[in-house]
Amino acid sequence: MKRPVIKDQSPVSLTGHFTGYVWCNHHLSPTSFSSILGKLMYYSSRPADWLSNATIGVNLEAMLLQRHCLLDELVNQAIDDGVTQIIEVASGLSARSLRILTGRPNHKLTYIEADLPDMVAWKKKRLKKELFDDDRFSIVECNILRQEGELSIEQLLQNVNQTAKTLIITEGLVNYFPLDVIEGFWTRLAYALKPFKEGHYLFEIWPKVPDHPFAPIIFGTQKVIELITRQEVPLHYTSNRQIKAALEGCGFSHASVIDPDSAFNANSLQEPKHRLKMSTPTLFRVVKATA
Ligand SMILES: C[S@@+](CC[C@H](N)C(=O)[O-])C[C@H]1O[C@@H](n2cnc3c(N)ncnc32)[C@H](O)[C@@H]1O
Repeated sequence: MKRPVIKDQSPVSLTGHFTGYVWCNHHLSPTSFSSILGKLMYYSSRPADWLSNATIGVNLEAMLLQRHCLLDELVNQAIDDGVTQIIEVASGLSARSLRILTGRPNHKLTYIEADLPDMVAWKKKRLKKELFDDDRFSIVECNILRQEGELSIEQLLQNVNQTAKTLIITEGLVNYFPLDVIEGFWTRLAYALKPFKEGHYLFEIWPKVPDHPFAPIIFGTQKVIELITRQEVPLHYTSNRQIKAALEGCGFSHASVIDPDSAFNANSLQEPKHRLKMSTPTLFRVVKATA
């Protein structure tokens, strides 16, 4: 049977420019990380985001900031719990690595970013412009669709320190793939993490929200993103229980699902300083899984 052709380029990288601009706009990234493309996408989305916020209280920008800040908090918690090696897959134009490393100048940490080749080339130019130079940081090419050899997660994880307590992060990646593809990646990731002293995976996922009061409008937003990326952006699972079961079914020994609203309400985590909270429930979940 003919194998499907795997490309190392993706229209999904466009959305990395969009979120990159959001992070810059809220001073979470240096301005050099923004692009004209990101700015254009950001300002074209303003009217729709304003309207959905004013009418139904759903604000994409607020949710992106909630996501980014909550993941920061959880990464910091993981470091406090002993993680010394972080691998952020599909890192795009996020400056989390810079924030974490500059915030812990004397910490024995390794931070590896990984993304498709074009995004890596773009990011390297920006890092050079920022004069960012930290021996603990590196950026490599990776394509989660490749199951072996160059660019595969398997090869990446074989070439890092397996005796270090390790955290894999993906942000803004999972819902760009059909369920069977992303579950395939999770299964390979869980397997590749088994030899590690400790292997954790932290990511966000956007489930189907049939019981949300404004579900039809939310599905409309999903269609707009599909138009930009010229591909389907499927929502996965309908409950926290299903998400947990899926991760454990893929080979992770334990998974827990965090509802950002309760995480913030419980005050167990600091709220994003921007306090761009919505008046309706947030639409994504954060998952912590251990291999
Ligand atoms: C929505 S952006 C998120 C970027 C960043 N994590 C953030 O939150 O700003 C999606 C990222 O996934 C990357 N990506 C898309 N397909 C990929 C693949 N097959 N393997 C690895 N990365 C991929 C894109 O290049 C892009 O940087």
